[in-house]
Amino acid sequence: MNLETLIEQARQLDELDPLAGFREEFHRPVLQGKEVLYFTGNSLGLMPRNVPEYLRQVTDDWARLGVEGHFYAKHPWLAYHELFPSLLTPLLGSLESETVVMNQLTVNLHLLMVSFYRPTGTRFKILCEGRAFSSDQYAMESQVRFHGLDPDLAIVEVFPREGEYVIRQEDLLNKIQEEGDALALVLLGGVNYYTGQLFDMREITRVGHEVGAVVGFDLAHAIGNVPLQLHDWQVDFATWCSYKYLNSGPGGVSGVFIHETHHQSDLPRFNGWWGYRKEDRFQMAKGFIPIESAEAWQLSNAPVLSMAAHHAALDVFQRAGIDRLHAKREQMASLMIYGLEELSRLHPERFVVLTPHAMHERGCQTSIFFETGGRIIFNELEHAGVITDWRDPGVIRVAPVPLYNRFQDIADLIIHLDRALKN
Ligand SMILES: Cc1ncc(COP(=O)(O)O)c(C=O)c1O
Repeated sequence: MNLETLIEQARQLDELDPLAGFREEFHRPVLQGKEVLYFTGNSLGLMPRNVPEYLRQVTDDWARLGVEGHFYAKHPWLAYHELFPSLLTPLLGSLESETVVMNQLTVNLHLLMVSFYRPTGTRFKILCEGRAFSSDQYAMESQVRFHGLDPDLAIVEVFPREGEYVIRQEDLLNKIQEEGDALALVLLGGVNYYTGQLFDMREITRVGHEVGAVVGFDLAHAIGNVPLQLHDWQVDFATWCSYKYLNSGPGGVSGVFIHETHHQSDLPRFNGWWGYRKEDRFQMAKGFIPIESAEAWQLSNAPVLSMAAHHAALDVFQRAGIDRLHAKREQMASLMIYGLEELSRLHPERFVVLTPHAMHERGCQTSIFFETGGRIIFNELEHAGVITDWRDPGVIRVAPVPLYNRFQDIADLIIHLDRALKN
């Protein structure tokens, strides 16, 4: 393998990288006295160094002010969630009124399906990708049952063709058209967690709407990773978590996007006081009057401590700039693809790269499938301090992240993989 070329390319790219300094804004894990090579930003993003300062601000305010922190904290807690829309809109391509940070991802999937999955006698199906993330499957199944329907009849999964690893976009669109007026909802992961495939959300939304379905996305693996234009694409709703590419900490707070066309509609919704019109929320009156924005979907007051970590992490994003991050992500993906191609020439038929190569079909993540022996490779990598992520039956997922990974990390990964494959 032409390792020298790979290493030299990585060196040059690191030298020219305008975002290189951001790496120092993150804590990098150390195992047995050695800094690890971290490739699991698709699972849990690294901790930004500014997080303790943001948390401390909240705990200091709490200590100093008690309940008055709701009004007099540096960022008053009553409106803490209002800090986020302006920080998230560049990542989502949304209006500020379409975005609210709240709850956890699976909770939000349920709340959104309460509003957006409205089966009738004839239009009752949900279309999703085969091998959707487990929690999404359970949420869809239980929603279907909640409406007294049978998941085997109501949930339509689209799989890759025989002998292929990712779903063809045309197959998705054809299935949406085929199901037509039986389709109540299209609900897909924007980026599939297993293969790293990025779906064409604009086209899926267009075709879904053409047949009269509602279209929503789970953006857990997409936000902070790939470009999104949810408003312009006319996506009806979306939700995500903040602990992967958004680096906001384990179990970090989630968020939702609800297109403005739905803000003043008569959609059913589970209500709570935090979605009530702000002017007179505290009159605690009978009868719910919603805020006329995505905020109407809020139930509870803001979990300020976990939001403080989110705030710190989004501050880093804002300074880095999403366009520069996308440019670096593409360069990183190209280097990864080049390295893996070299590796597969050297070790023919030992592995298959599942993730598409085309930049409009992928983000940071690359999923490498091993028919046999994958677990041993994974363990060897781990032993060598290379942190990747294993998914049964045979996939190693690696996701270099432009905020804190170097190009050199990718070259090092390829060298470690080469070594493990030789053993
Ligand atoms: C695609 C996807 N959906 C749902 C979830 C579940 O998220 P949570 O535990 O935050 O509800 C995850 C978690 O990793 C995920 O990756």
